[in-house]
Amino acid sequence: MNRSNPIGIFDSGIGGLTVVKRISANLPNENIIYFGDTARVPYGSKSNSTVIEYSIQDANFLIKKNVKLIVVACNTASSAALDALRERFEIPIIGMIEPGAKMALETTKNEKIGVIGTNATINNKAYSSELLKIDPKAEIVEKACPLFVPLAEEGWLDHKATYAVAEEYLKELKSAKVDTLILGCTHYPILSKVIQDVIGNEVRLIDSGTAATKIVEDYLNGRNLRNPSNNIGIHEYYVSDLPIKFKEVAERFLGRKVSNIHKVDLEEITGN
Ligand code: DGL
Repeated sequence: MNRSNPIGIFDSGIGGLTVVKRISANLPNENIIYFGDTARVPYGSKSNSTVIEYSIQDANFLIKKNVKLIVVACNTASSAALDALRERFEIPIIGMIEPGAKMALETTKNEKIGVIGTNATINNKAYSSELLKIDPKAEIVEKACPLFVPLAEEGWLDHKATYAVAEEYLKELKSAKVDTLILGCTHYPILSKVIQDVIGNEVRLIDSGTAATKIVEDYLNGRNLRNPSNNIGIHEYYVSDLPIKFKEVAERFLGRKVSNIHKVDLEEITGN
């Protein structure tokens, strides 16, 4: 494997850019190829078999671009497809669930952990199984918060509607007195101010993207796979639908100008 090959990151759409932001902050010299499946988003309301099928196609696209490692930024895809991807491909694949769960267990004091995510991630019990595998005594309260995704994309980061939705979604977690809350969806770090305000300052928020970034860093360091170049890495973005909306939201999510966005035909992804 060539050390200067890019890191491949895929997501159902735009949200995975929160993970790109973390990875590029910690590993600024790495080249990154991002694929956002904007034509088929959302994954969070789809069945596991569909998400597995799409994720295999997404990973295949990145492998053809000679990436040295794949990060499944999408929590839904991580929850449904990680095993299938690892079985199928030899390339190292890092998902969101295990890193997020481990960080939450390192953080909690009272072993009461909240998890929020899409319907699929919560129905798959992905985080709770991982948490209980490591700490069978942990108490876990999970809640699907699907409306957070469109609110984040709309940029309603400080809007009273977002506060109202958060109050409704987070009330069980509040009354369960969780001291740690896993943000188990790509979009939720964007809404962290509202989530923190509503759940209370004493609750620690866990960004799975941050946790996964640490794993990526350790992986590359441990295998001498860091890009040797001292230049800032090149980032290329591929999307399966028109890039206009992607560009607008991407610039908001990343807080900087985004270029190098290419549209890929879905036929190229599906191989049909
Ligand atoms: N990227 C998805 C996730 O992290 C959220 C958007 C979707 O439902 O596709 O679960």
